[in-house]
Amino acid sequence: RRTQVAVIGAGPAGLLLAHLLRAEGIDVIVIERQTPDYVLGRIRAGVLERGTTDLLHQLGLGERLTAEGMVEDGFNLADGEHLIRIDIAALTGKRVTVYGQTEVTRDLMDAAPARGIEIVYGASDVALHDLTDDRAAVTFSVDGVEQRIEADFIAGCDGFHGPSRKAIPMAERREFERVYPFGWLGILADVPPCHPELIYANGPKGFALASMRSPTRSRYYIQVPLTDRIEQWPEARLWDELEARFAPLAAGPVTRGPALEMSIAPLRSYVFETMRYGRLFLAGDAAHIVPPTGAKGLNLAASDVAYLSQAMIAHYRRGDDSGLDGYQAKALARIWKAERFSWFLTKLMHRFPEDGPFEHRMQSAELAYLASSTAMQTAVAENYVGLPL
Ligand code: FAD
Ligand code: DHB
Repeated sequence: RRTQVAVIGAGPAGLLLAHLLRAEGIDVIVIERQTPDYVLGRIRAGVLERGTTDLLHQLGLGERLTAEGMVEDGFNLADGEHLIRIDIAALTGKRVTVYGQTEVTRDLMDAAPARGIEIVYGASDVALHDLTDDRAAVTFSVDGVEQRIEADFIAGCDGFHGPSRKAIPMAERREFERVYPFGWLGILADVPPCHPELIYANGPKGFALASMRSPTRSRYYIQVPLTDRIEQWPEARLWDELEARFAPLAAGPVTRGPALEMSIAPLRSYVFETMRYGRLFLAGDAAHIVPPTGAKGLNLAASDVAYLSQAMIAHYRRGDDSGLDGYQAKALARIWKAERFSWFLTKLMHRFPEDGPFEHRMQSAELAYLASSTAMQTAVAENYVGLPL
């Protein structure tokens, strides 16, 4: 079989790219290792930048987003005792939307068949071949039957652990990494949020985040040592911790309820600068990871595929390859700025085991400065709402 663009991975990056290309009449096949239910069961991002919601509206897929997304005018940082409200609407003229990654994925998935996007689920042993010539191909098995798809281009949208990045030869790779000495323990529950806006708090016991999915569904996270196992966190223990952190800060009570999901995620900063190799283009978590503080991961995946789709469309429409040749540099310029912001906010808001009293005073001083300075609040706000595409 042959197609124009073979997309590996049906996460937000892969599905969004497939829709953007298909809307211009380009043929795509998406190849995903998991089942649809598995993909939808991963509870991850919750905050969408304007650039990301614009893409969904542009595709005519914004109906549920408009009906159910919660548009936020601001968010809060806290030093343990006080809220520092960042009025993003007043400072930047832009807002963000709380709408879960699961919902974005579901909207893209549900619309795929009617728009002529084929998604192959349950593909095992996905492998990439002949990336530097015109027989570039993806092979995989479904139900034990091996398949081969040749393509003009392969889009590696298969997340941090997928095979696309690993298909690039060692000598071509340029990568940068910072691993953090803690993880985030998250809980999702059908209880009203404790506060109308997000709160990112740095307290004596470390970072905690109060977020939400809807007026009746809350998402909370706390910083935990990397050695902690989920079994060490019975729900009651986590709720006690969340109540201690947020009851003094929030407008309302921390309401408890049964966990719909609980998991621990490690924190990492990672950039793989070789985003193009021959006919392979990487996008999203396949090429970079940000620590979740700042909510940039899904939004970066969206800006990558916005650039990549424009480049591929120019190739097919006008035979213009300048976008393809410039993709890596253009994407990296935005990626490094989002890496910087996520790293800055992670350092400001977490307790690092190696830090002493001096570093804690530095964090307190930086938060105090932020509380008093419109200039610094503006800098934080313009990064939070998303840098221009
Ligand atoms: P993924 O979502 O990882 O999708 C990759 C897909 O490829 C998956 O479906 C996977 O099954 C598939 N795949 C993997 N291997 C193969 C294979 N061998 N063959 C075929 N398919 C394969 N980002 C934000 O913007 N805002 C937030 O608020 C936010 N919060 C987060 C909270 C947590 C706890 C975590 C863990 C992440 C958070 N992120 C957030 C980051 C965000 O979830 C990711 O950046 C986003 O999922 C990236 O999308 P993607 O499509 O590039 O990768
Ligand atoms: C959520 C996750 C984040 O990483 C973040 O910065 C804000 C919100 C969330 O899952 O709701």
